Amino acid sequence: MPERRYRIVVCRGPDCGDRRDSAAVHAALVRAIADAGVAATCELDWQSCFGRCSQGPNVLVREVVAAPIHRGLADLPQRLGGGPRAATALDNRVAPVHAAEIVASHIGRGAVVRHLIEPLVAAPPAAPPPPPAEPPAPEVREDVKAP
Ligand code: FES
Repeated sequence: MPERRYRIVVCRGPDCGDRRDSAAVHAALVRAIADAGVAATCELDWQSCFGRCSQGPNVLVREVVAAPIHRGLADLPQRLGGGPRAATALDNRVAPVHAAEIVASHIGRGAVVRHLIEPLVAAPPAAPPPPPAEPPAPEVREDVKAP
């Protein structure tokens, strides 16, 4: 049976990277991949932003498929590279402590780490615009008398 290959992508955008230190998550994943002995089948990379900034640090885990999945390939037996594919997951609010679990579960068994997957959060509504400013009061000069 061909070995399954995975790709893990860590966000380093301004929220995930600068504010929430996704570099520490990336470093923990490097260690977890090495410790699990899956470096040959799991690549680790960076991404600039997944558009889920308020739920970061975000980490995308997906199986790398050499050819587009189509019905014929999916119907092949697993020994020939067919069969169901592992799910893709965007893990949210990932901390370094989650790295070993992601590698053991998603990479090792093809099972997403469900407690790290949050529903998409809609952006909060924009604040209402400020009320229009009052026109300035006319200047009253006491030294000028009306005609
Ligand atoms: S900065 Fe990470 S999703 Fe936008």
